[in-house]
Amino acid sequence: MVTVTLQDTSPFDGQKPGTSGLRKAVKVFQQHHYTENFVQCIIDSIPAEKRRGCTLVVGGDGRFFMREAVLIIVRMAAANEIGQLVIGQGGIFSTPAVSCIIRKMKATGGILLTASHNPGGPDGDFGIKYNIENGGPAPEAITNEIFSKTKTIKSYKICHDITVDLDTIGSQSWEIEGHTFTVMIRDSVEDYTLLMKEIFDFDLLKTLIAGTEGQAPFKFIASAMHGVTGPYLKRILCQELGAPESYTLKCEPKEDFGGHHPDPNQTYASDLVEMLKKGEHQLGAAFDGDGDRNMILGQNGFFVTPSDSVAVIADNATCIPYFVKTGLKGVARSMPTSAAIDRVGQKLGVECFEVPTGWKFFGNLMDAQRLSLCGEESFGTGSDHIREKDGVWAFLAWLSIIASKKMSVQDILKDFWKKYGRGFFVRCDYENVEAEGAKKMIELLRQTAKDESLVNKSLTGGSGQDQKTYQVKSMDDFSYTDPIDGIVTEKQGVRMIFTDGSRVIFRLSGTGSAGATIRVYVESYEPDESKHLLDAQIVLKPLLDIALKVSKLQEFTGREIPTVIT
Ligand code: G6P
Ligand code: ZN
Repeated sequence: MVTVTLQDTSPFDGQKPGTSGLRKAVKVFQQHHYTENFVQCIIDSIPAEKRRGCTLVVGGDGRFFMREAVLIIVRMAAANEIGQLVIGQGGIFSTPAVSCIIRKMKATGGILLTASHNPGGPDGDFGIKYNIENGGPAPEAITNEIFSKTKTIKSYKICHDITVDLDTIGSQSWEIEGHTFTVMIRDSVEDYTLLMKEIFDFDLLKTLIAGTEGQAPFKFIASAMHGVTGPYLKRILCQELGAPESYTLKCEPKEDFGGHHPDPNQTYASDLVEMLKKGEHQLGAAFDGDGDRNMILGQNGFFVTPSDSVAVIADNATCIPYFVKTGLKGVARSMPTSAAIDRVGQKLGVECFEVPTGWKFFGNLMDAQRLSLCGEESFGTGSDHIREKDGVWAFLAWLSIIASKKMSVQDILKDFWKKYGRGFFVRCDYENVEAEGAKKMIELLRQTAKDESLVNKSLTGGSGQDQKTYQVKSMDDFSYTDPIDGIVTEKQGVRMIFTDGSRVIFRLSGTGSAGATIRVYVESYEPDESKHLLDAQIVLKPLLDIALKVSKLQEFTGREIPTVIT
């Protein structure tokens, strides 16, 4: 007999979901009742009539504490009259795979156990994120409701007697106080692989990788960074597309990601950059802990900015059978992302949206059939095949473009810049700064934007020959009105826009788990082809100087240099 226990509890401070769910140190989640409280509030946010007997998808990136969290969710779902949980084998599902399965199974939602690209292990981070029935992250109305419930919670329901075998594929059921509760353990990669086969021309990709008489085999290297994508890369790239095992790197998921940040950028995936620099591989890619982010590199470590990556995919959408079939309905980017994709959208004559940072803002546009392809500077690229960004999908998109155009990554970019001009883009992160100083800095910037004291002023940065003067055209704190539901989201980052279209943007990260992280984004546009191969950091140095002066960043934070530059 399975019994339901009503467990007394009391609220924990700070269970506020950030840009992408609740993210905290593992030790915080391990506190007695902490995880249970949050899970109860997620479940309670689903209206009772939808909740009873519903299906939820559960899976995570394999990080430390994930299996414990899955078991807690199983026991609480059973007690809260959920009908069925669909769980990845061993608890493993990438974030894109959860989105895919929610949609495929018409589930009510999903619970994702990941802190994305944050480090893992007993001293690392853990996270819980709720996705809704369209397969995308819950919108703010729901996360706010979850947060408000965490502030008053008095008890939660749990079935302590249930244990579940997470490793064997198949279904297990229990009768609990008059209702049946089922746990279905599902292959972690199968559904996602089938979806990729519908989107891309696998035969074309197989031929690219194997080579033909006139064309040498195409060599790439893809790193899972010991995150969740390992099994997906092995299945799709090696088993389905015939790539040798040696084309994949760090494919064993590890609870602590081998002690590293599973974040695909040139700092944290520097080993991949070094391998590419040897010149033996024509394409390189890395993915984050939960598989939604990606970094694309060309031969010799040629870096493709995420802003350019999505724009190139848009420009070459006809290389991807899915887009040929569905048409490119519209394109979009987050506000700090460079405007490269806007230029492609304009040329193609499709709608072009600028949304706040966070993938959830794309979902409404996709559901309304107005958006097919979008990306963010934070290494997110994706399409309306699901409602999450999708790292492996982005890599397959690049393989498809290369296979169709028979050009190198660098030449594809050079061609692209020639056609549209180049948007130089750099992001500087000041991680883990003291929260008070960061807050004050943003307040100052907001005030400066509000009083318009810099508008029409000329500001100079750089030194000697590289000195450059820009005139401020406008300054504001980005606010977004969702074109579908009219909901307004304010205070999404302070922007300085210059008369030549260059931009400087300041934002506080919404994904950190301690202190504050300041992000400074700088962008300038260069139509002159002879300047397209210049180093972005050099081109953008004057703008960065201006950014630091205006924000008084060093004064407020005591930081001389950024922690990471992407
Ligand atoms: C997550 C979201 C992205 C978003 C990013 C921003 O990865 O899924 O959509 O761009 O967070 O992170 P930040 O730390 O800048 O708030
Ligand atoms: Zn992620």
